[in-house]
Amino acid sequence: MRIVVTGGAGFIGSAAVVRLLARGDEVVVLDALAELPYAAAPKRENLAWAAAHGPLRAIHGDVRDPAALAAALPGADAVLHLAGLGSVPASRRLARLYHDVNVVGTASVLAGARAAGVGHVVVASSSTVYGDRADGPFREDDALAPATSPYAASKRVMEAVCEAFARATPSVAVVRPFAVYGPRLRPDLALCRFALAALAGAPLPITGDLSAQRDWTYVDDVVDGLLAALDRRRAGLWNLGAGAPRSLAEVVATLGELVGAELPVTRLPPRPGDVALTWADRSRAVAELGLGPATELRVGLARTLAWYRAAAGALVPQGSADRELRA
Ligand SMILES: NC(=O)c1ccc[n+]([C@@H]2O[C@H](COP(=O)([O-])OP(=O)(O)OC[C@H]3O[C@@H](n4cnc5c(N)ncnc54)[C@H](O)[C@@H]3O)[C@@H](O)[C@H]2O)c1
Repeated sequence: MRIVVTGGAGFIGSAAVVRLLARGDEVVVLDALAELPYAAAPKRENLAWAAAHGPLRAIHGDVRDPAALAAALPGADAVLHLAGLGSVPASRRLARLYHDVNVVGTASVLAGARAAGVGHVVVASSSTVYGDRADGPFREDDALAPATSPYAASKRVMEAVCEAFARATPSVAVVRPFAVYGPRLRPDLALCRFALAALAGAPLPITGDLSAQRDWTYVDDVVDGLLAALDRRRAGLWNLGAGAPRSLAEVVATLGELVGAELPVTRLPPRPGDVALTWADRSRAVAELGLGPATELRVGLARTLAWYRAAAGALVPQGSADRELRA
């Protein structure tokens, strides 16, 4: 199959590209190499790493640009739409841009896919649409409360756009990933700062409450869900989470065990938009997408630390995928 992966230079996107190439799919990446919410350099490295796994056509372009979509979409069987702007704090400063990229960008991809005769699109929403809740697990049909940040709001509006498109061709499937981590983790995310500090023996910068719980979900498990949603080729809505929330205190303790030291922490004030709990009910994804058991946090963190150790010297050099990219 020919699959267009928007955001294929990103953290989750590059992991998905590698898996698609491994199973023999033809892959076209459409990515703007955005400087938000972190620099473009790691995205170039992600793309070079992905390109080392098979033939890859990479188009440097914006999902809001009809010309970029017209270059990428014709002949595609399906689209994995992962391009978007993450980060709750950055969305508070750049609410209009977040709306534009996440909502208008998604509408543009869906309209472009329809025009190009693409049959199926999988879109990444976010667990943030559930809002700030004390109870869990969060089920797909629960009431949503995305008023916590412009990022969450943009994802909820994006879902509404998908619902409107899902009544016709292409079929549109939406997934809600929860607190994704693993190798190539986004440098703007707290867990990246924790891992680097743990390896350097420096204090871990903890914003807010150590009892806050996240449903940390290993990136390979998220890619399992994305590929299953892609292959199912029907509309649907699924949480992609581990279903086992863990507190920041547990994460700090596990990192300490893995590096063999008790880790000091620096406490920082909470950030607006941070929530107390995220917790996926994964039963629908297990039943309909056939997901297996989630990766244990300790196993996933060990793999993440191993990647940081290996990457500390030199990250993957630039590869052939950059040829089509214009700086
Ligand atoms: N990482 C998580 O924990 C998480 C959780 C829930 C949802 N998501 C969603 O999953 C998707 C991928 O997230 P990620 O963590 O890999 O983020 P990422 O920032 O690493 O990847 C996003 C990619 O999209 C590209 N991009 C941004 N704006 C673009 C535009 N206008 N046109 C084309 N490309 C553009 C970026 O250059 C980047 O390569 C995003 O939609 C994000 O909101 C991520």
